[in-house]
Amino acid sequence: MPVNAAIDRGAIVLANPAERIKTMDVGFIGLGHMGAPMARNLLRAGHHLIVYNRTRSKAEALAREGAQIADRVADACQGEILITMLADDPAVEGIVFGDRGARSTLAGEAVKHVIWFEI
Ligand SMILES: NC(=O)c1ccc[n+]([C@@H]2O[C@H](COP(=O)([O-])OP(=O)(O)OC[C@H]3O[C@@H](n4cnc5c(N)ncnc54)[C@H](OP(=O)(O)O)[C@@H]3O)[C@@H](O)[C@H]2O)c1
Repeated sequence: MPVNAAIDRGAIVLANPAERIKTMDVGFIGLGHMGAPMARNLLRAGHHLIVYNRTRSKAEALAREGAQIADRVADACQGEILITMLADDPAVEGIVFGDRGARSTLAGEAVKHVIWFEI
């Protein structure tokens, strides 16, 4: 039913839920079998993604769909949300505690209010 017709009939017209979602700056690290489709869904939902992957070609595939590539882990830690979707504990340790890793970046003064999801 067209929106105007619904209003004329006194119906409550709800906005499209997708339009109510705030667009966010999301850093995404780990574009494997799980991470790539998750990142793609966030892109399709309209969020701004900056993606880092150890093997850069996987980040380049997402860049063709609108993501920004992070050259370093730290570059992916500047948004409002950080999502890591990595293979195992050693991978997480390397990304988080490695040289210029996520921990030191998130603890820095330049970065504020980042919510980190380690999946
Ligand atoms: N696939 C499934 O059906 C499934 C189901 C349930 C749970 N899980 C769990 O979900 C997690 C991710 O699974 P996945 O299938 O997405 O794995 P995957 O395809 O092997 O991807 C793993 C990701 O971790 C990165 N990575 C691995 N070692 C790294 C290191 N040392 N430093 C930096 N990055 C590293 C890989 O980078 P590169 O691209 O450079 O290798 C890749 O981005 C795992 O814990 C898995 O057990 C998976």
